[in-house]
Amino acid sequence: MTEFIHSGEEKKKFVQQMFEDISPRYDFLNHFLSFGVDLYWRRQLVKGLTLEKGQHVLDVATGTGDVGFAILKRYTDAAVIGLDYAFNMTLLAREKARRRQTGNITFVQGDGEALPFRDNSFDALTISYGFRNIGHYEVAAREFQRVLKPGGKLAILEFSQPRSKLFGHLYRFYFKQVLPRLAGLFSQSRAYRYLPESVEVFPPDREVAGMLVHAGFSTVEVQSLTFGVSKIYWAVNADQ
Ligand SMILES: C[S@@+](CC[C@H](N)C(=O)[O-])C[C@H]1O[C@@H](n2cnc3c(N)ncnc32)[C@H](O)[C@@H]1O
Repeated sequence: MTEFIHSGEEKKKFVQQMFEDISPRYDFLNHFLSFGVDLYWRRQLVKGLTLEKGQHVLDVATGTGDVGFAILKRYTDAAVIGLDYAFNMTLLAREKARRRQTGNITFVQGDGEALPFRDNSFDALTISYGFRNIGHYEVAAREFQRVLKPGGKLAILEFSQPRSKLFGHLYRFYFKQVLPRLAGLFSQSRAYRYLPESVEVFPPDREVAGMLVHAGFSTVEVQSLTFGVSKIYWAVNADQ
């Protein structure tokens, strides 16, 4: 029995509102609750992208833009667009870009399931801790394939459940018992009850890979990070 709805329109509305509401505390809680390891996970995503000069990247579910900023730090002549469904997140991301005087990055409000871009627009598409939150995974996967150029790279960074028994117990205890209580001191605890539940119901690797292949991607590879607490799904747009 789950407390939250994990697919469809109802999930979509709930998730959007939740992120609108927690946006002011989002960055702080991210770093605090993950002991800063989230920065390492995003860096692994960015490192693995291996972009060439002047390439265009779309960061879907960008939140406050950290993946976009990390991309530009490593690939200084890339051009990045960050898109998020929660308007407040895009405002915070824009404010960060202004403070840091980061060029070559634009933030827009939009839906990952209906991307406001032409076919074959991007060399790479990243989505970090966002795919799990999407209402209709298959629809989003097809959109990702549509806006990517042939041979374009897709990188999905997501939480997952560690395989090791000992680490799995520790992880579940922290994620289900500690994290919602700690987060509840600073923000809405329901958001941090939703988080572990959404990780639990997220489809297994072979299903995610099957979905991506069905959407038109090839060579789906899964990279495990920190005993499997996070994973990166790497895929290439098979369109020729
Ligand atoms: C956990 S946050 C991740 C933010 C950022 N990528 C990061 O790594 O910190 C998930 C984000 O997904 C966004 N999101 C959820 N559904 C979306 C959709 N359909 N289209 C675009 N963004 C969406 C939320 O608004 C939220 O900002």
